[in-house]
Amino acid sequence: MKDKYKIIEHEYDVVVVGAGGAGLRATLGMAEKGLKTACITKVFPTRSHTVAAQGGISAALGNNGEDDWRWHMYDTVKGSDWLGDQDAIEYMCREAAPAVLELEHYGVPFSRNEDGKIYQRAFGGMTTHFGEGTAQRTCAAADVTGHAILHTLYQQSLKHKAEFFVEYVVLDLIMEDDECRGVLAWCLDDGSLHVFKGHSTILATGGYGRCYQSCTSAHTVTGDGSAMVLRAGLPLQDMEFIQFHPTGIYGAGCLITEGARGEGGYLTNSKGERFMETYAPHAKDLASRDVVSRAITMEVNAGRGVGEHADHAYLHVEHLDPEVIHERLPGISETARVFAGVDVTKEPVPVIPTVHYNMGGIPTNYKAEVVTLKDGNPDSVVKGLMAIGEAACVSVHGANRLGSNSLLDIIVFGRAAAIRCAELITPRTAHKPLADNALDKALQRFETIRNAKGNLKTSEIRTDMQKTMQQHAAVFRTEDVLQKGASAIAEIRTSFAQLKLEDDSLIWNTDLVEALELNNLLDLSLVTINAAANRKESRGGHARDDYPDRDDQQWLKHSLLWIEDNKVKIDYRPVHMYTLTDDVEVIPPKKRVY
Ligand code: FUM
Repeated sequence: MKDKYKIIEHEYDVVVVGAGGAGLRATLGMAEKGLKTACITKVFPTRSHTVAAQGGISAALGNNGEDDWRWHMYDTVKGSDWLGDQDAIEYMCREAAPAVLELEHYGVPFSRNEDGKIYQRAFGGMTTHFGEGTAQRTCAAADVTGHAILHTLYQQSLKHKAEFFVEYVVLDLIMEDDECRGVLAWCLDDGSLHVFKGHSTILATGGYGRCYQSCTSAHTVTGDGSAMVLRAGLPLQDMEFIQFHPTGIYGAGCLITEGARGEGGYLTNSKGERFMETYAPHAKDLASRDVVSRAITMEVNAGRGVGEHADHAYLHVEHLDPEVIHERLPGISETARVFAGVDVTKEPVPVIPTVHYNMGGIPTNYKAEVVTLKDGNPDSVVKGLMAIGEAACVSVHGANRLGSNSLLDIIVFGRAAAIRCAELITPRTAHKPLADNALDKALQRFETIRNAKGNLKTSEIRTDMQKTMQQHAAVFRTEDVLQKGASAIAEIRTSFAQLKLEDDSLIWNTDLVEALELNNLLDLSLVTINAAANRKESRGGHARDDYPDRDDQQWLKHSLLWIEDNKVKIDYRPVHMYTLTDDVEVIPPKKRVY
C-alpha cells in the first residue's frame, strides 16, 4: 500500500494539528520555547472557526467592577452542573488573568475603557461573591474577539518561526505500542502524502457541530481529531453534552453573541413578554445557555413562539444607544442585516437555539495530556498525545459551558500544552524509525474512500445524519426518541459503505475531503447519541424529559465511549472533586438556582 503513494517524511519535536485559537496558542508557545514545531491545518489559519467567536474571553481582571478568580471558578463549577473537573477549573480560572494579559502584550486589539484598561462586559452565569452580584468578566474586542485573537496569534507564530503546512488534511494518528508517533496527512495542493513524526502530537481540531443541521459552526467543524482518536482505539468523554446557543439567527443558524444580552439586550415571546423573568428570576436574560435555550423551546412548545410558524423568539437590542451598538456590536449588526434582513437599531432579531459547542471530546488532564482508562487507572496518560480546545474534554465545562470560557479554555490549555512539551521534550531529539506496517490501516481507509463506487452521494448521507441528529438529540430528549435516533444513526453510518465518489484524483479533491469529514462525523454522531441514550438524568446541556432531575448518586461521573466492532462501548471516569492547591476548597454539588 505504501508503494502506491509518494510519501514524504518530516521530523519535528512537536506536531500541532489545527490552527484555530488553541492550535495557534500552542504552536506559538512551542516555538517560543525553541521546540521545532509543525502546525498542520486544513484551512488557512486565519480562516479557522475561532475567527467566528464574538463576545469575548473571560478573566477576573476586575476592570469593570470587582472580581476574583475564585468567583470565576465557583461560576464555572456551578455552570458545569458539577460535572467539571475542579482541579482543571481551578487551573483555568487562576491562569486566566496572566493568559489574557499575555494576549494583550502579543498585540490583541481589545476594546478599552476610558482609563485604557481592557473593556469587560457581562456574560451569562458570571457572578461576584459566589452567586451574589453580576460580574463583568468577559474581555472583548468589540464583537469580533476571536478574529482579533486569531490574527494576532498567527502573526506571533510566524515571528517565532513556527512552520505551517496549510491545506493539508490529517488522515490519522500513527500509533505504535500505545504511543502516538505523529500523523499521516494529505497535501491538497499537489496530492502528496506526508508523515509528520513528533515527540508530541497536539490535537487542536475543534468540535463537531456539523453533525447537526443547524449549528453556529463553520462547515469545516467536523471533529477530525476526535474521530482519529476513536479510530486509534481510544475513548472520547461526555459526548452527550451538546450546547445549544439560545440566539442563533432563525433559519441561518449564525451566531448572535450573548454579548448582545450582556450589553442590555433581551428576549421576548409572541405576547411581547420578557419570558426569562419567569424562568430565571435572578439572572433573567443572562442565565446560562442551557437554561435560556430550554426556556425558548418551552415558550415555542407552549404556543408563544413568534413569526409565521410561531417557532422562534425575538432578541431586542433596538432600545440600546446606536453608539453602543456601533462600538460594541458591529459584527452582529452586519450578521443580522445579511442573514435576517434586520436593522438591529430598529427591529428585533429572530432567534432560535442552535448547536454551538461540544462539551465532550478527547479526555485530558489539565496539562493537556490525553488520558484513558487503562488497567483500572482512569487517568492513564497516552504517551505522545495531547488535545486542547473544543476537541478536548479537560473537563472544565462539564455538562454546560459558560459563554466566554471557550476562548479562555483554548488560550490557557494551548499555553499549558506548550509548558508541558517544554518539560518533556529535549529539542531536536532523534526519532525512532516507524514499523513497516505503521501506516497500513490509515492508507487502507484513505484508499477505500477515495475509490468508493457505491450509489450514495456524500451530501445524501450527510443530510440524513444531520436531520436525524437534529430531531433525535435535541434540546429536550427522551428514551424513545434517542433510541430510535441511535438505530437510525447506526444505519446511516453503515450506509457509508454505499458511498459513491465522482472524483478519485489527489489534487484539490474536495469531494474526497467532504467524504473523509463525513466519515468522521458519522462516528461522532454514533457515540453522541448513544451516550445521550445511556445517561438517565438531566444535567447541564443534557435535558431528559423522562429523567428531569440531576442524579448525583448515579451519574456524577464522566462517560467514556469507544467504538468497537461498530458498537459503542461505554465506561466511566470519576469527576475530579478535588482542587490543585489549598487556595480554594472543593465546591460541593447543590441544586442550581437561576
Ligand atoms: O455568544 C458568544 O459570543 C459566544 C461566546 C462563546 O461561546 O463563548
